[in-house]
Amino acid sequence: MGKISILENRLPFGKLRARWYKATILLLAFVLIVVNWRRSCISSYSYTDKENTILYHDEDCVSLVVFTANMFIWGLITPMVLLTELVTGKAIFGQRHCDSPDDGYHCHKDISRLWGPYSPYFAVDTADDSTLNRYHGCEVTFANVLSRHGARYPTGGASAGIKITINKIQSQATSYSRKTDFMKTFKYSLGADALTSFGQQEMYNSGVRFYRRYESLAFNNDPFFRFSAQGRVIDSGEKFTQGFIDEKTKRTGEPVGQYPPAVLVYEGYPFNNTMDHGTCREFEMGKFSGVASAAQTEYATIFTAPIIEWLKKEIIGVDLTPQDAINLMSLCPFYTVAEPTGDPLPKFCNLFSKDEFKSYNYYLSLGKFYGYGPGNPLGPAQGIGYTNELISRLTGTPVNDSTTTNSTLDGDPSTFPLDRRLYADFSHDNTMTSIFSALNLFHGMKNLSTTELDQTSKFNAAELVPFASRMYVEKLQCEDNKKEEFVRVLINEQIMELKACKADKKGRCTVGAFVDSLQWARDGGNWAECGWPYEISEQKRKEKKKQESKITKQT
Ligand SMILES: *[C@@H]1O[C@H](CO)[C@@H](O)[C@H](O)[C@H]1NC(C)=O
Ligand SMILES: *[C@@H]1O[C@H](CO)[C@@H](O)[C@H](O)[C@H]1NC(C)=O
Ligand SMILES: *[C@@H]1O[C@H](CO)[C@@H](O)[C@H](O)[C@H]1NC(C)=O
Ligand SMILES: *[C@@H]1O[C@H](CO)[C@@H](O)[C@H](O)[C@H]1NC(C)=O
Repeated sequence: MGKISILENRLPFGKLRARWYKATILLLAFVLIVVNWRRSCISSYSYTDKENTILYHDEDCVSLVVFTANMFIWGLITPMVLLTELVTGKAIFGQRHCDSPDDGYHCHKDISRLWGPYSPYFAVDTADDSTLNRYHGCEVTFANVLSRHGARYPTGGASAGIKITINKIQSQATSYSRKTDFMKTFKYSLGADALTSFGQQEMYNSGVRFYRRYESLAFNNDPFFRFSAQGRVIDSGEKFTQGFIDEKTKRTGEPVGQYPPAVLVYEGYPFNNTMDHGTCREFEMGKFSGVASAAQTEYATIFTAPIIEWLKKEIIGVDLTPQDAINLMSLCPFYTVAEPTGDPLPKFCNLFSKDEFKSYNYYLSLGKFYGYGPGNPLGPAQGIGYTNELISRLTGTPVNDSTTTNSTLDGDPSTFPLDRRLYADFSHDNTMTSIFSALNLFHGMKNLSTTELDQTSKFNAAELVPFASRMYVEKLQCEDNKKEEFVRVLINEQIMELKACKADKKGRCTVGAFVDSLQWARDGGNWAECGWPYEISEQKRKEKKKQESKITKQT
């Protein structure tokens, strides 16, 4: 809808130039058409009468519509577009703006929502209360957002794997089909770990959205910000803040001053961090550290078998493994989010069918489910600390937790205030999955099948933890029951069914019932099984391991 954000000014210069070219060309085209159309009428159909006055037979003119169409297609547009593309080096009509604050990513919906955690953010449900001044007679009195960072390049580990696959294909292939021919000369060129410029735009838009949705509060309350201290998370939080401030400036018409710096929470052992896991020994390197990869390996062998079969016919002579197939599929999402506008799709996307991406999405969902979610006996435990912090914010009482909270930070009102109306935390998909689990959002969910795609499951990583994913926890004061305060939870604009506290039809539970339903987390859950603290020798081993695979873990 032509929403132009301030961030666009920072796009590479070529893009802006391309826009000016387009406008100038269109204007020029329009002028030329009208002039030529008039000329065509005058020259062909004018005559003089007895008094030598020139008369025109306008009705004999070729219709302006037909004339314009012909001019446009053959006379102007085609060469102009070619010329412009030549000058700017970019496909003009191939690019669209695919991300907007209210709906998120809205291009290529058929496959872009099947890329698990590598899907660009999209609003799962555009609820009727998308701007929340009043909702069914309720007023929002509190909102807490927990957000994942925006789209990033593959992690260092994933990049290495992708390069191995590409090298293998290029060194072993004896011939390529027409469809795969581009791989012969393909050079893998993406960065690693960092937020992409599309990812920055996602986060900026997320800040705009947060302001819009909670305008009645945001109008005169500043959010309290906490960032898990990794580069792309910090960058994400900053872009979000900028989007929030710019939207506020626009809506209120007044300049908004600088906010105090966000609280940074260190990542990695031995730091306690409720937004990034890392201190539970049995989970990180003990008996539950391999649950996810076991589940994924089993399903990968099954779903990639037919893919490998046809790939081997397209690229002759290469000994492809399930991991190679998955790496090739991942180039579709990663090259998409590497485009500043999230468009066009790279050639890799055309290789695979929608059903194949469905399986890919399921494979990635299994990783979250058995890694950090209800399928891992210690998955939900990684979300206990954040759950207790949330209870503390909802009820205005001090944090009571001995799992992943940092008591130094949480005990200090300057780093963990309890009197704010808006909170904004920035984290990762893995720990967010754990937090959703500890919050009982997957109450009663059965283990996912690792042998076939479970069509009925509501556990879908693309809807839960895509890039720039967000959970809103709201407190409401409602007219139909003034004595109670209510809680609602939304993930990516979809209202969660709070089964554990028996939510009403509007998706609400009273604050009391919600807190009661979190008894497991309040009691410390099964954190005792983690084996904290690590032995010193183990700590050393862990640090070494962390050095080696530093960036592969956190997504
Ligand atoms: C707690 O946070 C403080 C302030 O950032 C930091 O100095 C300390 O090392 C942290 N402790 C743990 C165990 O995370
Ligand atoms: C779900 O799977 C995990 C990991 O394999 C296992 O430990 C757990 O017992 C399973 N739960 C149920 C209810 O089958
Ligand atoms: C970090 O967490 C552990 C429990 O997992 C706790 O014993 C320790 O006191 C915490 N440290 C801080 C500074 O909160
Ligand atoms: C804090 O939580 C523990 C359980 O983990 C509980 O026994 C204790 O009563 C709680 N303290 C307060 C002040 O609520």
